[in-house]
Amino acid sequence: MDVFHIEGPVRLSGGVSVNGSKNAALPIMAAAILAPGKTVLKSVPHLSDISVCVELLGELGCKVCRGDNGDMSIDSTVIDNPVGEYEIVRKMRASICILGPLLARCGRAEVSMPGGCAIGDRPVNLHIRGLEALGAQIHLKNGYIIAEAPKGLRGADIFLGGPFGSTVLGTANVLMAATLAKGRTVIESAACEPEIADLANCLNKMGARISGIGSPRLTIEGVSELKAVEYEVIADRIEAGTFMAAAAITSSELRVRNCRLDDMMAVVHKLRGIGVTVEPNGDGCTVAASGSIKTADITTQPYPGFPTDLQAQFMALLSLADGNSVIIEKIFPDRYMHVAELNRMAANLRKEGPTVIVAGVKKLIAAPVMASDLRASAALVLAGLAAEGTTTISRVYHIDRGYERIEERLNPLGAKIVRENV
Ligand code: EPU
Repeated sequence: MDVFHIEGPVRLSGGVSVNGSKNAALPIMAAAILAPGKTVLKSVPHLSDISVCVELLGELGCKVCRGDNGDMSIDSTVIDNPVGEYEIVRKMRASICILGPLLARCGRAEVSMPGGCAIGDRPVNLHIRGLEALGAQIHLKNGYIIAEAPKGLRGADIFLGGPFGSTVLGTANVLMAATLAKGRTVIESAACEPEIADLANCLNKMGARISGIGSPRLTIEGVSELKAVEYEVIADRIEAGTFMAAAAITSSELRVRNCRLDDMMAVVHKLRGIGVTVEPNGDGCTVAASGSIKTADITTQPYPGFPTDLQAQFMALLSLADGNSVIIEKIFPDRYMHVAELNRMAANLRKEGPTVIVAGVKKLIAAPVMASDLRASAALVLAGLAAEGTTTISRVYHIDRGYERIEERLNPLGAKIVRENV
């Protein structure tokens, strides 16, 4: 198992390029199921979650090839085993997004019910409700979701909102299934995340007829078939936000390239509010921070609100602010595994239900800490860059799920991160 040793504090400088988005790539890879033939994707990041998805598609019958440069081809001519096995789904919850496309393509799908994870219990009731509205018969057996639509799916009006707002992968599942349903589907309270817009744009390129992209109401006119296409995945706004937070926490200036600022207004607004300069620059931006960080109150919300996937990283940043900040997690109220670890590094965080009071401290101090989930581990890396001494982070396989060789990208900027296999 790999660990990181991070020596701090450091100043960063130079430029870093953002990779393709994991959370856009995963459902787009699943969309290839809908279009028999060879789908060619560009800018697919090299991440362990993507490898799990490759394995999953392979089990279904697809032939997947990957190049070094982010290219991937998925030949879905043959799908002879529409089953998402527990052994794969348990490694990555996002595997659930094969359910809708498999059902639409094969008339039947069996996908292991994803379990909970470090960020909460993560139900899939909305996915099931949406697919049932399209005419699927769904039951649970031995931990598997068995979905059947032998006569095909039919369009419907579907309200997909839940207690925490819209659902990203639930929208992806229902949207993909609806592209091949007979007639018109309206998804109300659809997720507006840029990753869902990217999926919808890819589906339209394949021949789907989706309108309202980027809004909470998606209208889909069903078509009889989709064709395989070439498509480039958008840049990862969460990776971009993590690099921006790295500049801020180290009082540095960084150029972040290949970054879609338009998708990140809530994040840029918060950064500017705490005294960090963010200037558009070519295909990205320049982020500069000097000296003290002001306090901020952050509430995570569905897009275009502040993303839950940057909550942990901004908690690390605000732990060094000049006073008290308040963070409220409205998407995954238990997504706070990093709180105790950051406190081990001399942060002063107090959790009260879904709220954390962040009392700013003058400095963080290195400690051995444990990564518990993807974004929590990114927060620990940021804290390690700023803390005095050598921070050792164990279980960095969590960070490899969503950031491609992060140490090789931060070290040229001045970070001192050593990966060790122990
Ligand atoms: N929810 C339900 N019922 C459902 C589905 C979701 O109640 O059937 C609730 C969830 O429990 C949560 C809220 O709805 O409270 C939103 O969950 P959502 O379904 O949107 O999450 P997801 O689609 O499973 C994706 C990302 C997550 C990201 C969330 C929120 C992918 C592969 N995953 O998950 O990304 O945090 O949206 O934006 O796209 C990450 O990359 O680290 C990550 C966890």
